[in-house]
Amino acid sequence: MEVKVLKNKEEIGKFVSNIIEEKLKEKNLNNEYFKLGLATGSTPIPIYQELVKRYNENKIDFSKTITFNLDEYVGLEETNDQSYHYFMNDNLFNYINVKKENINIPLANLDNDDEIKKFALEYEEKIKKAGGIDIQILGIGENGHIGFNEPDNMLIINTGKVNLTEDTIKVNSRFFEKIDDVPKSAVTMGMKTILDADKIIIIATGEKKKEVVKFLLEKKGITTSVPASFLFLHKDCILVLDEDVKNACN
Ligand code: F6R
Repeated sequence: MEVKVLKNKEEIGKFVSNIIEEKLKEKNLNNEYFKLGLATGSTPIPIYQELVKRYNENKIDFSKTITFNLDEYVGLEETNDQSYHYFMNDNLFNYINVKKENINIPLANLDNDDEIKKFALEYEEKIKKAGGIDIQILGIGENGHIGFNEPDNMLIINTGKVNLTEDTIKVNSRFFEKIDDVPKSAVTMGMKTILDADKIIIIATGEKKKEVVKFLLEKKGITTSVPASFLFLHKDCILVLDEDVKNACN
C-alpha cells in the first residue's frame, strides 16, 4: 500500500481527479469504456467537485464511463435525501454527462431479503460483464469499515446485505434528524468485489480518522476487525491522507 500525504482536501480532489482523468482517457482512446467505482460520504466530495469543474471546462468527457457505487442503505427510497442514490445525483451525476444507463448503485429499497439477494447477484454480474472496475474510490469509517463492510468475525465476499454497527449508526446519524431514522442495514460490495478492482484509492481526511489511519500506517496486520486492513493484499492501492490526519497520527 503506497501512502500519499497532501496538504488538504482540495489537493486530494485534484490528485485523485488526475488519476481518474488519465485512466479514463487511456481507456477511451483504446475504444474501451472506463469503469469507475464510487463512494459516498464527506470524503469524496472534493473529488466530485473537481470532476464537475473539469467537465464544465471541457477537459473530461464521461460519455464512455460506467460507474458502480459501493453501497446503499436498506429501506430508503431513492428520492430520500439521505439515500446514496440522492447523494450521487446531487454531488456528481446531475452535473456531468455520464449516461443514466451506465450508472449503477446498489438498489436496497426492496421488499425482502430474497429480492436483495437476487439484486446482489445481478450487481456482481454487471460488474463482471463490464469487464471489472478500473479504479475504485474508497473512504474509510472511523471503525475501519470500507463500503459498509463493518468490523466483524467474518466479512462478506461478494455484494450483499450487512447490518450496520452501533458505531456507524452513531457516526452517520449526523446526517439524519434523529438517530432512530438511520437505517440498521445496507447493501454493500463485498470484500472481494472491492479487492477485484484494478486500482484502489482510499482516502482519509481529518483528525477523526486518526486511530484507523495509525493502525494502517503501523502495518500492524490484517484483521476482520479493521476491514480496510485487507487492502494490504491489493497490488495497486494508494492510501491518500491530508496533513490533518497525518499530523494527528504522530
Ligand atoms: C460510503 C462508504 C463508507 C464511507 C465511510 C466514510 O459509500 O462506503 O465506507 O466511505 O463511512 O465516510 P465519510 O467520508 O463521510 O467520513
